[in-house]
Amino acid sequence: MSREHLFTKVDLGAGLTLNNRLIMAPLTRSMADDELVPTEDMATYYARRSDTGLIITEATQISKGAQGYPNTPGLYTEEQIDGWKNVTQRVHQNGGKIFAQLWHTGRVSHEVFRGEQPIAPSAIGINGTVPRSRDLTYGVPRAMNAEDIEQVIADFASSAANAKKAGFDGVEIHAANGYLIDQFLHYTANQREDDWGGTPENMSRFLFAIIEAVKPHIQQVGVRLSPAAYFNIEHDARDVAVFDYVLPKLNALELSYVHTGMFEDDPIDYLGGTVTQYIRRHYHGTVIASGGYSPESAGKAVVRGDADLIAIGRPIIANPDYVEKVRTQGPLVEYDESMLLELV
Ligand SMILES: Cc1cc2nc3c(=O)[nH]c(=O)nc-3n(C[C@H](O)[C@H](O)[C@H](O)COP(=O)(O)O)c2cc1C
Repeated sequence: MSREHLFTKVDLGAGLTLNNRLIMAPLTRSMADDELVPTEDMATYYARRSDTGLIITEATQISKGAQGYPNTPGLYTEEQIDGWKNVTQRVHQNGGKIFAQLWHTGRVSHEVFRGEQPIAPSAIGINGTVPRSRDLTYGVPRAMNAEDIEQVIADFASSAANAKKAGFDGVEIHAANGYLIDQFLHYTANQREDDWGGTPENMSRFLFAIIEAVKPHIQQVGVRLSPAAYFNIEHDARDVAVFDYVLPKLNALELSYVHTGMFEDDPIDYLGGTVTQYIRRHYHGTVIASGGYSPESAGKAVVRGDADLIAIGRPIIANPDYVEKVRTQGPLVEYDESMLLELV
């Protein structure tokens, strides 16, 4: 049995200890109110999952311009901070821990949300339409100028300060899944010829500037990365060199963890293993695996040493009592997309 290995405490440093190794993955639910304020139902939904070692919230906008989907929550107005305060209090009352996932969607957006053309490292668009808004087609973004870059870095910092005010235990910088920071890290989205593109050092400058700007505002800072482009972005063989450069550099930054951003964490030839194994080879701090893990495969990944913590997404939507079911080996309800229509 490898499941028992999931039920040991993990020290994230600076006084934060997690009760077990099962993490609630960030899961967009598009159920904030029209001012993008977290609702009472969201507080109940998160509070029910407080027995996970750590909750990472659904991706949360750092500014109005960061939004790319309907009714995703923000963390840049007083009302949003108060809404999140309610969530963090409810989770803490139940003995849980919670980080806010801080997000800018970049080119995966539409002017309907931003009030103006989306921004990205380069003027290269993606195909398709905005989910849950089928008539909105993605367009070509505007390449960010120096002022835009400075503004987004400052917005990450102020939303981290807001996360602290709202009572979060830490933040996760969302640098995965094809959103703005990830767009800087991949050649197909970043074709800049200035200090922010063209080489691994330049392409990762934005990520490191954000980490540096966020850290003074909140002690616990994790980072989610997608070395294998798989969502909203195309892979380029040169990308591996970018992540070969980024991961060792993260070792010096005293982060809470590095978290795999992947839907199915299967072996990938050019990474020499799963994304999580690749991260582990280069990054020596706490690693969170994610992508298709069952209680059994999660336990095995911990025993093998691939990861310290395992983030569970879809099964935790389907099973609010996931941790208890894993502990008692109770039957798990299978996830179905129709479950996204309601917060339970
Ligand atoms: C409905 C849904 C919403 C998601 N929203 C986010 C998100 O807001 N931020 C993020 O980093 N990943 C998001 N993901 C990815 C998950 O965090 C997770 O990596 C993925 O579901 C794979 O894990 P699983 O197989 O345990 O579900 C989402 C996935 C799903 C299914």
